[in-house]
Amino acid sequence: MYIRSFADGNGDGVGDLRGLKDRLEHLAWLGVDIVWITPFYPSPMFDFGYDVADYTAVDPLFGTLDEFDAVVDEATRLGLRVVIDIVPNHTSIEHAWFRAARSSKTDPKRSYYIWRDAPADGSHPNNWVGYFGGPAWTYDEASGQYYLHLFLPEQPDLNWRNPSVIEEFDRILRFWLERGVSGFRIDVAQALVKDEQLRSNPELSPVDFDADRHTQWAAFAHDHDVTQDDTLAIFKRWRAIVEEYDGILIGETYVLEPDVLAGMLRGDGLHVAFWFKTMHMEWNAETIAQTLAAPLDSGSDEIGWVQASHDEPRPPTRFGGGTRGRRRSLGLSTLLLGLPGLPFLYQGEELAIEDGIVPPEMKADPVGGDEVDAGRDGCRTPMPWSAEPGKGFTTAPTPWLPSSHDPDDTVAVQRGDPSSPLHRTRQLIELRRQLDHDAPVEWLDPGTGLVAFRRGDFEFFLNAGDDELTLHTECGALLYSSITPDRVGTISSSRVRLEPDEAVVLR
Ligand code: NOJ
Repeated sequence: MYIRSFADGNGDGVGDLRGLKDRLEHLAWLGVDIVWITPFYPSPMFDFGYDVADYTAVDPLFGTLDEFDAVVDEATRLGLRVVIDIVPNHTSIEHAWFRAARSSKTDPKRSYYIWRDAPADGSHPNNWVGYFGGPAWTYDEASGQYYLHLFLPEQPDLNWRNPSVIEEFDRILRFWLERGVSGFRIDVAQALVKDEQLRSNPELSPVDFDADRHTQWAAFAHDHDVTQDDTLAIFKRWRAIVEEYDGILIGETYVLEPDVLAGMLRGDGLHVAFWFKTMHMEWNAETIAQTLAAPLDSGSDEIGWVQASHDEPRPPTRFGGGTRGRRRSLGLSTLLLGLPGLPFLYQGEELAIEDGIVPPEMKADPVGGDEVDAGRDGCRTPMPWSAEPGKGFTTAPTPWLPSSHDPDDTVAVQRGDPSSPLHRTRQLIELRRQLDHDAPVEWLDPGTGLVAFRRGDFEFFLNAGDDELTLHTECGALLYSSITPDRVGTISSSRVRLEPDEAVVLR
């Protein structure tokens, strides 16, 4: 859950720990096992908490350490485990380490970050660009050198080749594990260690700094800034620490090459690695099947399956909006929840809501927000709990982002309707519990337009085409439909009809 937008417990218009604690029951009812909480640490909020100023405290905007403990206690009571976000690639410029580091070239904390002299020709220390666009270097006038940042200038990158940084994070991980968390979601896991000589990346096309952030990033082969082999040693070290507490290490691994992803899981690396290609695929049966099979084919079972997050347009929006977008999202969930690994839901995905509408004057995200790049505000609008003003999210007259969702798309309304996305999702999670998790995935080829696989006694089908289709099957029962709950029952004719975008589970 994205803490700013989940539930506001103190009426200031921003989600917080108190609000979260009171709404955990929803997640337990839904069948969730683990709650991942996005950063709640002290932060100047240039990137809404992904710019951390103190890794072992709580920002007053989100509550107190006692309130954090209360969240863990309540989660435990409900049978949920808590995973928190750790942001090790960069700190905030307001972190005490960076304040010290920039105070002088000889400060002991200087080498916690990555500094380089300005080249005589007026260029940057190398050609790296940031994920948010623009050069990855900012000149610090006071101390007379450039520092590296793969995100905003307010998010300086840590130097993971410095053993002191490694030790600091051992301590930080233990601090939270001792407080009862069950592990970490590692922000930008693929980027921690940089090339030792900071070599320039091969240029694929001339970079245009007026282009959108994705186009700028795509102008280079990222040989030297991300996915460096030495990162694995850090994952191994952390895995040993979290395993002392029976915890889990989940990498936000933004790499779209399955072999590179597999390398991060191998040999006691991460427990789970996110596979993000599902967020960047075209909607046709062949592409969907290939996208799901690719990480499994490269030998990784421990995939974190996602179609939504606080960083990308919501799936119903991406898939064309309206009934079609919503059905596609539920259809894709059906497949994702049938695969080996760990499926994730992003708050509101269980309601199949589209992006919220954020007028330009309320734009909050530091990136995007134009015709080319929608930015991230739309997927971050407050969770719609109930129909009243404030949507049950807040009692404040103005939440930090507006909520434009239809009054029918609330938890309260959908809970009363068995055919709602909320109930479809809940039933799917229940069904997942019946799967034999050791059963391999066998891909089926049932014909054009269909994506299908078998796991043990279960078969999963999605009609990704535009027309109604009939599939022939030897299965005896239909256990689940992503559209119509009352289709569940015996299959008498060896045939099952599928509407466009409908997914079913058979046994
Ligand atoms: C990934 C996070 O999900 C995103 O919200 C953030 O802006 C970047 N990492 C940088 O920390």
